[in-house]
Amino acid sequence: MRAITITQYGEPDVLRPAEVPLPEPGRGQVRVAVKAAGVNPIDWKIRSGAMAEVRPVEFPHILGLELAGVVDAVGEGAGFAVGDEVFGWSDTGAYAEYALATNVIRKPAGLSWPEAAALPIAGETALRVLGELEVKPGETVVIHGASGQVGRIATQAAVALGATVVGLAGSSSLDEVKALGARPVQYGDGWVERVRAVAPDGVDAVFDAAGFGVLGDSVALLGSPGRLITIADPAAYAQGLKFSAGGEESAAVLEDLVARGLKLKPGSSYALADAAEAHRESATGHAGGKITLTL
Ligand SMILES: NC(=O)c1ccc[n+]([C@@H]2O[C@H](COP(=O)([O-])OP(=O)(O)OC[C@H]3O[C@@H](n4cnc5c(N)ncnc54)[C@H](OP(=O)(O)O)[C@@H]3O)[C@@H](O)[C@H]2O)c1
Repeated sequence: MRAITITQYGEPDVLRPAEVPLPEPGRGQVRVAVKAAGVNPIDWKIRSGAMAEVRPVEFPHILGLELAGVVDAVGEGAGFAVGDEVFGWSDTGAYAEYALATNVIRKPAGLSWPEAAALPIAGETALRVLGELEVKPGETVVIHGASGQVGRIATQAAVALGATVVGLAGSSSLDEVKALGARPVQYGDGWVERVRAVAPDGVDAVFDAAGFGVLGDSVALLGSPGRLITIADPAAYAQGLKFSAGGEESAAVLEDLVARGLKLKPGSSYALADAAEAHRESATGHAGGKITLTL
């Protein structure tokens, strides 16, 4: 089968098309003919070698952690049939014509292939962190990166549970953040004053879903570090602040995301062979919609 592999860490051009063996599903696994694979910042962080110490990979390696597609072979006890349309996490890299998967569910008819492939990572992360922050109805939560994929789901979910969301975003994303139900605030110098202006009664929790050096000011805004979590700023470790990583990859999480009606706006869609371009766009940090590879 065709796949995009890396045989070394490096710039986007280390992503190369290759012929690799078709993977065979084991117990509990299905093989999925991939229709869409989500492209996440962690993909280019792994590719560049930036995560080599904490998350090393063996070469050749196929990137891609989430997918949507059609079941093409079924392992013992997997509970699906050939032809089922599914989405979820991939066990083997999703930048490929076929990938193995364990934690998938049937794709709702109302979700396109890119919409379904977009949900697992951003959705699980957003719900995990809102849970860890114990955001409750009536509280005010600041979300850094409310216009990003994780931030958009977090904003939708927090608004739905009755919290007031102050959503930090770039100038061109503020209208979209407002449309999600948040009070939009532009990031950058002076952001603390701008947040105070729209949340004069104070804030209860801060979710840093962007990672651009806001931890110290966020602690000052909160008055204590107890309800601040970042998913993207490793400075948290040196500062003794909470970094949340690695959640539950399960059918239950996917069912929860679907039941809540959480969705991401599809962004650019690239052919498998153009994975390097997809990485370049993701690494700008301003993709706007969810980038996918579509087959
Ligand atoms: N730890 C975990 O479990 C976990 C899980 C998933 C993701 N992550 C990490 O979380 C981060 C966000 O992921 P994502 O998929 O949501 O990425 P994304 O869709 O690319 O979103 C990036 C966000 O950062 C904002 N941004 C860009 N430049 C900025 C700046 N200079 N100052 C402040 N904000 C800026 C963007 O705003 P505009 O577009 O409005 O400019 C956007 O809201 C990534 O670092 C990713 O690796 C961690």
